[in-house]
This record gives sequence, C-alpha cells and structure tokens, in this order.
Amino acid sequence: MRNPKVALVAGANGVIGGRLIEELVSQGWRVIGLSRRGGAPRPGVDYLAVDLLDADATRAALRPLTDITHIFYAAYQDAPDWAGLVAPNLAMLQNVVQGAEAVAARLEHISLMQGYKVYGAHLGPFKTPARESDAGHMPPEFNVDQQQYLERRQKDKTWSWSAIRPSVVGGFSLGNPMNLALSIAIYASVSQALGLPLRFPGKPGAYQALLEMTDAGLLARATLWAATEPRAANQAFNINNGDLFRWNEMWPKIADYFGLAVAPPLPMALADIMGDKTELWRSLTQRHGLAAGGAMAATGWRFADFVFSWDYDMFADGGKARRCGFHEFIDTEKMFFSLFDQFRRRKIIP
Ligand SMILES: NC(=O)c1ccc[n+]([C@@H]2O[C@H](COP(=O)([O-])OP(=O)(O)OC[C@H]3O[C@@H](n4cnc5c(N)ncnc54)[C@H](OP(=O)(O)O)[C@@H]3O)[C@@H](O)[C@H]2O)c1
Repeated sequence: MRNPKVALVAGANGVIGGRLIEELVSQGWRVIGLSRRGGAPRPGVDYLAVDLLDADATRAALRPLTDITHIFYAAYQDAPDWAGLVAPNLAMLQNVVQGAEAVAARLEHISLMQGYKVYGAHLGPFKTPARESDAGHMPPEFNVDQQQYLERRQKDKTWSWSAIRPSVVGGFSLGNPMNLALSIAIYASVSQALGLPLRFPGKPGAYQALLEMTDAGLLARATLWAATEPRAANQAFNINNGDLFRWNEMWPKIADYFGLAVAPPLPMALADIMGDKTELWRSLTQRHGLAAGGAMAATGWRFADFVFSWDYDMFADGGKARRCGFHEFIDTEKMFFSLFDQFRRRKIIP
C-alpha cells in the first residue's frame, strides 16, 4: 500500500539526498527531489530544478506542492571558507521552509542534515566522543545557525524538527565536493595504473588516529526514523556506523581490495597531486569503458585532504539515537568494500 506521506528532499543529487530518496521510495513515500540540476522523473519521484538561493523562484516552484508532509533538507552550497558557508546555506534553508510552510497545510516535520561542524570539527581537535549535549562554540558555523532558525520558527507551529549529525559519509554520487570513498577509489585506481603501491597520503598522525564513518544507507534510515518517531521530535542525533577504526588498520585492507601492496604513508595534497592525472584517467576511461562524465574531475580532493589531515581522534557518541530506538549498525570495512563494488558495477572505476 502506498505510504500517504509526501517528502520534499532538498539536495536531491547529493551524496546524502540521493540515497535518502532511494530509501523513501523503497518505503512507499511519494518524493519530490529538489536541486539546481533536477532529474528525470521515475516511479515515486518527481524532480524540481530550482536554485534555492533565489527566494522568488523557490516560492514559485513550491507553490503547487500543497501535499508535502515532510521536508528533508540535505542541500549544501560549498564555499571557499567556513564563514562563507553561512549566508548561502542559511538562506537556502529559509527559502525552502518559508515556501513550503505557505502552501503545505499538512506539514508534519522538517529534518535538517548537519554534521560534526556543530562540535567544531572544521576548526580542529574537538572533545571526543562528541555528544549532542556538548557546549556550543564560537560562530560563524552554518549548521548551528540553521538549527537555531528551525528552533525559533517551530515555536507555535504544528510541525516538529529533527537534526541529524553524521560523521564522514560513505555513499555513491558524482560531482559532489564531499565523497571520501570515491576519492579513495580513484586514488587507488590511479596508483594501480601507475604500478605504485597504495600510500596513505595524509599526515603521519592521521594514520594512527581514531575515526568513524556513516554509511549513506544507514543515514537515510536513521533520518527517516527521526522524522517519524514522536520521541525524536525537536532533537538532534549523532548518527554513525557504530564502530571506530584507524587508517593504519583500514588502509592495508583497502590496498588489498585493489590488489595493491601498501607502502609507508607519505603526506601529499591530493588536490595538487591529482591535477595532472586527467589524461591518465581519460585513457583508463577508454580502456575499461568507464562511464563518461569524468569521475576524476568531479572528485572533491580538498575534502579528502581535509579528512586525511586529522591527526587526532574524530568521533561522536551515537548512543542517544540508539537509546531512543534506532539500533542499526554497519561494519565500516564492509561499507567501503560494498561502495567500491558499486563504483565498479557502475563503471565509475576500473
Ligand atoms: N558528505 C559528507 O561526508 C558529509 C558528512 C557530514 C555532514 N555532511 C553535511 O550534509 C549536508 C549535505 O551534504 P552532501 O555531502 O550530501 O552534499 P552534496 O553531495 O554536495 O549535495 C548537495 C546538494 O545540494 C544541491 N544544491 C547545492 N546548491 C544548491 C542550490 N543553490 N539550490 C538548490 N540545490 C542546491 C546539489 O544539487 P545541484 O548541484 O543539482 O544543485 C546537491 O543535490 C551538508 O550540510 C554537509 O555539510 C556531509
């Protein structure tokens, strides 16, 4: 039976939003996916192409969507620095909420996708494990501003909100600034093509530090859980796979997956070092019949470099969501291999 709930997913082409749409459809929701690029409609999903920075265009695009019951906000506009993220990302959320509220009388819930920037992850080593109840830090930071906006806006409304805080997300997407698994897969494929062992490219201390990740599928299910579980209303939740790892143990396993030897780490900025590999990738694309569209060019090396610079522990306590009823666990090693399998199946890597 069709689920009577109707979801507006902002950020429909994102690492997070794309997987969330798959999950919603599999659970029988009707979905409207919104982003600048839009998309081809398919059973259960229609797409809207709109620039959320344009308040008038957003209002006009949302006007017919009177039956939305849930907003899942996972749009993200990148910027060259942390302060520059605040204005566009806050405005985009405000435009969606105001546009939807004006027409959607049945609106029940607004889900906000956040991250560990709430704990200061963008600034440097923060207290671990980070907890939802931890003290705030000095602005500017867009996740905090977005949550405060929702908290203020929700007063006297019938809808509730939830805020979801994943670690580094493992998922499938192309052309997005933050996709660690894809960056690793391309880096490994280039190492393989050059007959090189797989070297960890981060800081030496980052090889030893404790880290965790969040599988995009688990994240999608947790997001749906928080959006529909009354006990989760008006709260924030850390969502992670449930295990911790160190690259010094994970990296050799990744090398093994790609049939590569491991050599000692050597710090190098992938954003610089991968710049001249475009021609090599073009020849791999031809030789292996890879999907055109340039996975290499679309990869966010800057984000991978950032993750590999963390020479300190980086994790949060996922206990609150589990205590409130979300119990799913994913083995991060299996998550990597299943994503790499998927990249191969989709001909993104050789
Ligand atoms: N990826 C991670 O590892 C990770 C980890 C923790 C937290 N997060 C947080 O999760 C949120 C989503 O991240 P993500 O990695 O899924 O982002 P993403 O892959 O870059 O996706 C962003 C989405 O927003 C859309 N978008 C960007 N600018 C837009 C605009 N002006 N108007 C309409 N749509 C716009 C993009 O599609 P178009 O290009 O088609 O517009 C895309 O669908 C962010 O707040 C991020 O900080 C991400």
